[in-house]
Amino acid sequence: MSEPLLTIEDLIVEKHKESKVIISRLNLQVASGEMIGLIGESGCGKSMTARAILNLLPGQMNAKGKILYKNRNLLGLSRQEHRKLLGKEIGIIFQDYRGSFTPFIRIGKQMVETIQVHNPLSKNEAKAVALEVLAEMGLEAERVYSNYPFQLSGGQVQRAAIAMSLALKPSLLICDEVTTALDVMSGEKVLDYIEKMSKETGCAVLMITHDLTQAYKRTDRIYVMEQGEIVETGTPEVIRCHHQHPYTKKLCGCLLALPGEERRSEPTNEKVMSI
Ligand SMILES: Nc1ncnc2c1ncn2[C@@H]1O[C@H](COP(=O)(O)OP(=O)(O)O)[C@@H](O)[C@H]1O
Ligand SMILES: [Mg+2]
Repeated sequence: MSEPLLTIEDLIVEKHKESKVIISRLNLQVASGEMIGLIGESGCGKSMTARAILNLLPGQMNAKGKILYKNRNLLGLSRQEHRKLLGKEIGIIFQDYRGSFTPFIRIGKQMVETIQVHNPLSKNEAKAVALEVLAEMGLEAERVYSNYPFQLSGGQVQRAAIAMSLALKPSLLICDEVTTALDVMSGEKVLDYIEKMSKETGCAVLMITHDLTQAYKRTDRIYVMEQGEIVETGTPEVIRCHHQHPYTKKLCGCLLALPGEERRSEPTNEKVMSI
């Protein structure tokens, strides 16, 4: 692995009023060009990990430890300094796409403005970038560009939001359950493009997902999280076939065999658990 771009050291996230621990002593590394998976059941703390990186935690939570990005501790930055990193350096795409665009401004106008904030491009050059990424997401680029968000389906808005993040060519991209709102074909297309972009630009990707198949297929390394703690980490092959921790075994046992393959892990039950 090359020098890590992001190193999280002993991250603790707590709800300060209740002293409830949300994330305990989390350690995680992502290097340029790597795709890292973070998997675990719903509510285990995956999204709060993503939010801690860019100081987007809910008001009642605070973070301790170190989040080193390009050797700067992000936990020591001001809100303004975080905002500067957001977009161009670190892109975050959330499952909930509704806040991605202002409803009554055309998608194209919003994309061009954002691209221009981060890049010294003319309006026409920024428009060309926007149309290109929209098309890469499998969207009718011209139409989506001239539409208002409310004229599009949820899945189309989500793909436009992903296109927007990718247009900025971030060094680190955090994808939090980005394909949940998409049908399988659109989801695969989006992930294909994220993977292609990561290979071309060396962008590091932290892929948060409850979809183990996606994590196995797409990532270089997987972290397994249980109730705010990383319980196991390894290559997809190790996590899938040679895991050690009972929780990983439980997660893997809930996944049916990949198409065309026999199930390799010992299932603990036959039900597909909601993770
Ligand atoms: N906005 C919020 N305010 C208070 N607690 C929250 C909020 N969002 C999530 N939590 C709590 O933080 C914990 C971790 O949640 P989250 O990181 O969203 O889980 P995951 O993304 O793995 O499903 C859960 O106990 C959840 O109830
Ligand atoms: Mg989540």
